[in-house]
Amino acid sequence: MRGVKIVGTGSALPSRVMTNDDMAKIVDTSDEWISTRTGIRSRCYCDTRAGESHRSLVRDAAARSLDAAGIAPEQVGVCLVATFTADTCTPSAACLLQADLGMPEDTLCLDLNAACAGFVYGLHVAECLLPGATRPYALVVGADTLSRVMDFEDRTTCVLFGDGAGAAVLECREGYPELHAVWGSRGDDSSLVAPGVGCDEPSYLHMDGRAVFRFATEVMPRCTTEVLTAAQVSADEVDRFVYHQANKRIVDFAVKKLGLDPVKCEGNIDHTGNTSAGSVPILLDELVRAGKITSGNRVLMAGFGAGLTWAGVLAEFA
Ligand code: COA
Repeated sequence: MRGVKIVGTGSALPSRVMTNDDMAKIVDTSDEWISTRTGIRSRCYCDTRAGESHRSLVRDAAARSLDAAGIAPEQVGVCLVATFTADTCTPSAACLLQADLGMPEDTLCLDLNAACAGFVYGLHVAECLLPGATRPYALVVGADTLSRVMDFEDRTTCVLFGDGAGAAVLECREGYPELHAVWGSRGDDSSLVAPGVGCDEPSYLHMDGRAVFRFATEVMPRCTTEVLTAAQVSADEVDRFVYHQANKRIVDFAVKKLGLDPVKCEGNIDHTGNTSAGSVPILLDELVRAGKITSGNRVLMAGFGAGLTWAGVLAEFA
């Protein structure tokens, strides 16, 4: 049977760094409140004057992942971008990426919206599509520019989110393992909402923080346990747990509940904030580049978000 492995990762954070003290100049908040409630110390926003955009972040993260994999754009058969904040509804971010990197016409290009769980969903979707694709490599990007949908007068949301993109290249081959994906969604239209085209102005993101916190602390441990069960491995056999970076307290809760080694569950929310679909692949890439994920490692990734959605996979690095 054919399965997949990750053969390369990349990421891109924009250049405009906003510290908690910077946020305190915009809304009634403080470094103390934000860092103790969330673990966030700074986040990055696109500097449009410097030419940074959703498209440029996607392109840079994707190009870096292909470079790390030693794969040319012409070798990619599936190109997925998980996002809900692309520069345009159509053409898709995936088609723009195809144009930017020069991927062939028979590349399967599409965007996918599962909010903050989007990248993990995307890995599973790519695994399903690859056996029927023209070429055995998939480029999966998670990217969001939340600064586009933030209400900078709402202190309960604007301090939490940042912009960023991450990417991974999957190779499909005979003898490679399955991802053992688990997923779910809950058809919830009120806990976390970012209105789109045609909706009432202003179209900002709205969130019931406490409801999402309750949901997240329920699904993250459950998702982890379900992936381990599906893969028939113990937590000790997993080298890293890469969790969606929405709030350090959510990850700490899951780590404690599952009895995981905190060293294996290191996050990066302190300097990224919540980058939605970018969150998991940015952390993944930072760990790879720091030598904390290496060849042969098994990594459990899990995310949750608006929808309400959640997903988990166990992926092996080639
Ligand atoms: N600075 C200062 N005070 C703030 C604030 C801010 N940025 N945001 C909210 N507050 C205030 C509230 O107004 C409230 O004041 P009150 O007690 O006078 O009414 C107080 O802080 C406590 O608010 P509460 O919402 O209970 O805080 P919390 O401990 O639940 O933390 C979140 C709020 C948003 C950090 C937390 O609920 C959370 O992380 N939820 C999940 C969000 C998430 O993961 N979203 C992304 C999903 S992908």
